[in-house]
Amino acid sequence: MNVTVYRKAHFNAAHRLFVPEWDDERNAQVFGKCSNPNYHGHNYELEVGVTGPVDSTTGFVISLDVLKKIIKEEVEDPFDHKNLNVEVPEFANLIPTAEHIAIVIWNKLRTKIESHLDISITLYETPRNFVKYNGAS
Ligand code: NI
Repeated sequence: MNVTVYRKAHFNAAHRLFVPEWDDERNAQVFGKCSNPNYHGHNYELEVGVTGPVDSTTGFVISLDVLKKIIKEEVEDPFDHKNLNVEVPEFANLIPTAEHIAIVIWNKLRTKIESHLDISITLYETPRNFVKYNGAS
């Protein structure tokens, strides 16, 4: 019997979406306000789901205290109040779209959560714009 447990988290971060080979006009056409050369912020809302069997001893899929700590160390501490393009190494050569941020978060959490548990990421860039990623290629 698999159950999914969820933990919500939040971080504020700045970014700029742009393709370096394109001029500002073309970047603005494709990325709109998110291509502002002077960066801008979003209030990101993150929902992490962990799916697996309920441990017969603890009654947990994963301790939410443990999951909270992993999310803090892997996502909130390195991303919160940061300029993703400039200060977060994963985005040095990767456009920090919501899609890419979700993939980066999933990959970071994957290294910290036991491999028999499945991970799903829902990332809201705005209240109405969000992406989901579960590791499927
Ligand atoms: Ni943006």
